[in-house]
Amino acid sequence: MCGIVGYFGPSQDSVKIVLEGLKRLEYRGYDSAGVSFIDQNNHLKVYKKAGKLDNLKEELKDKDIVARTCIGHTRWATHGGVTDVNAHPHNNDILSIIHNGIIENAHEIRAQLEKEGVKFKSETDSESFLELVTYELRKDVPIKEAIAKSFKKIHGNSSFVVLYPKTGEIFAIKRGAPLVAGINEIGSEALVSSDPYALAGMVHKLYFPEDEVLLHISAANHNLINFYELDLTKTKRYLSKKQDLSVQVSEKGEYEHYMLKEIHEQPELIRALTQYYFGGEGYESLTRVAKLKPERILISACGTAAYAGTVAKDFFEGINRIPTVVELASEFRYRNPIIKPTDLGIFVSQSGETADTLAAQAMCKKSGIKTVSIANVEGSTLFRDCDENLLIRAGVEIGVASTKAFTQQVLTGRLLSAALSGKLDDAEYRVKLAAKFSLLAERVDHLLVHSEVIKNVAESIYNKKGFFYTGRGAYYPIALEGALKLKEIAYVHAEGYAAGELKHGPIALIDEEIVNVAIIAPELYEKTISNIQENKARKGIIVGIGQAEDKEGKRLSDYYIPVDFNGLEELAPLYVNVVNQLLAYYMAKFKGTDIDKPRNLAKSVTVE
Ligand code: F6R
Repeated sequence: MCGIVGYFGPSQDSVKIVLEGLKRLEYRGYDSAGVSFIDQNNHLKVYKKAGKLDNLKEELKDKDIVARTCIGHTRWATHGGVTDVNAHPHNNDILSIIHNGIIENAHEIRAQLEKEGVKFKSETDSESFLELVTYELRKDVPIKEAIAKSFKKIHGNSSFVVLYPKTGEIFAIKRGAPLVAGINEIGSEALVSSDPYALAGMVHKLYFPEDEVLLHISAANHNLINFYELDLTKTKRYLSKKQDLSVQVSEKGEYEHYMLKEIHEQPELIRALTQYYFGGEGYESLTRVAKLKPERILISACGTAAYAGTVAKDFFEGINRIPTVVELASEFRYRNPIIKPTDLGIFVSQSGETADTLAAQAMCKKSGIKTVSIANVEGSTLFRDCDENLLIRAGVEIGVASTKAFTQQVLTGRLLSAALSGKLDDAEYRVKLAAKFSLLAERVDHLLVHSEVIKNVAESIYNKKGFFYTGRGAYYPIALEGALKLKEIAYVHAEGYAAGELKHGPIALIDEEIVNVAIIAPELYEKTISNIQENKARKGIIVGIGQAEDKEGKRLSDYYIPVDFNGLEELAPLYVNVVNQLLAYYMAKFKGTDIDKPRNLAKSVTVE
């Protein structure tokens, strides 16, 4: 989704700094980029181009740019095609703005302003905010007031950064969309962004404003960043924290893709999670959540995070016997779901900024129940809005296709289930659980070292027509997740199915061009084998993922990926999931797609 970066400070290289920030946001997905800045003659300059950031850089290459204040944007089109004109910043002779989100009543605002003679240049919703603020300024309303007044008039979730050329100051504001500001150690430079990662290594302290808090970045005040309510009284409605992200942590290093790097990070992250949750901060948060003693759990999330929630449901129901409902946030938010006072709402999200998940959380909060996030980004909107937070500690996830976050989300769910069963203080139980996590890490390590087998299978099947991933029980969400990974990065049609369900319709599609990636788990083994036989009888190509010694599974499979389920018990689905991650990765690699930035996708879906 759209990326936002703004710089205010003494550096004359502000454009370079902003471009560096935008580069880091490329992973979020975008289709055009632009910057605006105040040059040495105090003139507003704007450069924007459809396409990759490199197009914009090419345009700027031979310009002799000296600029102190700069704002920049990567656009993911919602209103209006991918053109230079629709790219941000949007500008007139008074203001320059960048926007992330959707202005739902843009059409009405535009019509009203057009009646007043305002001329629009682009097809975007964003420009209506630019002209709304400008309309106020032309009536001599002071800038802060003009922004606050205009912001009240717009509907929907958005964040904006406004550059005011008259004073060279920057303003920023948000509602239901990500926004973070930061200052360097000596307090001489301030940056704003839609993602703290863009500011890694550039700022020392981060500020996460709450909704409808106006940030004013100016050298005229004692503090570089000042926070105001919409009635322009000063406010403390923001969270501040030390910036602990380093740029190095988020570099690709020896790996060809971020996705591969992130798949490889999993064993280490799995090992570190029990350490975090068995002591200190992690332990405290798990204990607080367990004390809520829910009678029922409502899990809401999107995409991969929803599948992680579905695996976790098995823990809450299987281990804790707590009835658990998992629902896609985009559906939950528009239904009239039954929410009882004794329910606990759990929201799973890597980014903590997914619009639908945020709306589902807000709905539960409004109904008075406690809400808990299982999230990766500390300080994200979801993190701030929930009563309690269980961090998944996955580190920055850059690859658009979520991998390590899924594993950590499920494992955090497993730890919560341990806390809910009151066993977190039982030393023997802890040792056993930590050993199980450690065994999972070890098996994943082994898979990664022997990934050649998976790569070879990928090479044999990557150009087949379609794929059915099948699994039963806790492997069913793994089948769904496996198919999602493949669709996302290899651009091939794939579906996840409960193994026993294929014969109720989809089996009509099976022929010699269709692959069935079958998870042959020890649970319900015979049933799974029968399902494979049904597909084989219809000439389907079988890729079995099963126990190394399973002769029958091997015999029935055209390609076989041997694994070792022994001892992993309820964590085994995560292990199989890594096979699917690698399978999707290698198939995409053979197809030559843009693995880290698949077409049409955005890392963090901040619009509905
Ligand atoms: C798939 C993927 C998406 C996200 C979904 C939710 O690989 O990344 O399906 O899982 O958009 O995103 P978060 O977890 O940020 O809420």
